Amino acid sequence: MGRSSARDVNPFKPAALSGIQLKNRFMKAATFEGMTPDGIPGPRLRDFHMGIASGGVGLTTLSYCTTEPDGRIMDSMMWLHDGIEDELRSLILELQSTGVKVSGQVTHCGHFSQNKDLRRGQPPKGPSKMFVPIGLTVGRLFAPAMTQDDINHLIGTYRDAAAFMKRVGFDAIEIHFGHGYGLSQFISPKTNKRSDKYGGSHENRMRLPLEVLAAMRLELGEDFPILGKISMTDGVKAGVDYALGLKVAQSLDVAGIDALIPSAGTSSYNTMYMFRGDSIAKGMIAMQDNPISKMAVRIMGPLMWKKYPYEPTYLLEAAKNIKAAVSCPIIYIGGVSTRADIDRVFAAGFDFVQIGRPLIKDPNFVANAVDDAAYDSGCTHCNYCVPLISHPQGIRCVLND
Ligand SMILES: Cc1cc2nc3c(=O)[nH]c(=O)nc-3n(C[C@H](O)[C@H](O)[C@H](O)COP(=O)(O)O)c2cc1C
Ligand code: SF4
Repeated sequence: MGRSSARDVNPFKPAALSGIQLKNRFMKAATFEGMTPDGIPGPRLRDFHMGIASGGVGLTTLSYCTTEPDGRIMDSMMWLHDGIEDELRSLILELQSTGVKVSGQVTHCGHFSQNKDLRRGQPPKGPSKMFVPIGLTVGRLFAPAMTQDDINHLIGTYRDAAAFMKRVGFDAIEIHFGHGYGLSQFISPKTNKRSDKYGGSHENRMRLPLEVLAAMRLELGEDFPILGKISMTDGVKAGVDYALGLKVAQSLDVAGIDALIPSAGTSSYNTMYMFRGDSIAKGMIAMQDNPISKMAVRIMGPLMWKKYPYEPTYLLEAAKNIKAAVSCPIIYIGGVSTRADIDRVFAAGFDFVQIGRPLIKDPNFVANAVDDAAYDSGCTHCNYCVPLISHPQGIRCVLND
């Protein structure tokens, strides 16, 4: 299939994405920056994204915007509500004044939460009652199953988020359907054990994600770009495998998603499958102030974070299968760190590219790569930036210190 073939495109030239025009095909991937103290998009977040915007990407993504306070994994995350309307609107306007388009990644953690500041008077819930290891950090062993009322409430929060995001001026929205968060907990047979219309078959497990997409589309209209980030595989036994990931992509494509970002892995069960490279345990150990927690992470680290060596464009072959199976544009993600990587991705026919760590290392990635066939961002995939999401100052590339 393939509605658009980008085989001969110059990724540094302008391109249309659904209803909007980007100055090139480079996008900043969602990387939760840890720069929203008290849930407010403050000056650090502004400086971070202004740096990225001036470096030349066509679109930047404000990551992990949750649909309600209880959708946060940690209480330092931003949730979409009227109280931050002014801050968000001026941030978006300032970014747009540089010529960059601004997308917001809209999410809900489901049961994957260590948030202590809960507002609904009930514990974080998922599709089915289950033991949730992350809850141990805050003394919650089990997450209950969502009722039909909870599901209706959740869909309502996504609908309200869509109206809010359109009102404050986002150019696009990226719905997070992957990485083990709320919607992906319904998609994955590992976490969804329901026997009602939201569980069992693929169609039933996709019901809630598709209802969310439909509710948001109704608010946003046909011309507003809605992107979807998925996990092609959870990378864990009994979870979404590549065959199922293909079906997930096809279901979203048929339902009218404007573009897909095929990622892999989950934060809950197999984080390193998403990242590859050095274990995040190293950075976690460095961040612990107290010797007992340092020792605990040192012992538990190898059990919690499996090792996967880094390879350039490590998701390319799997993403090609998605590209071949759907008609919407595909935004490649995963291991684009050099000019050679960029060329490989676009030669393979992908429509856009999202870049995470290499843009944290070098915010001028696009400007530096445009005329340099030997360009290398210098990101070593040490993954020290990843645990910094919970650092009071937020993320940074430690190699730039
Ligand atoms: C510090 C950091 C935070 C991240 N936070 C998010 C996030 O909030 N949402 C998300 O979908 N992915 C998140 N990711 C994953 C990236 O979007 C991307 O999938 C991954 O880093 C692989 O792309 P890369 O090789 O270009 O870095 C994060 C990555 C990093 C390094
Ligand atoms: S800390 Fe820097 S070099 Fe290491 S993975 Fe993050 S961006 Fe790359």
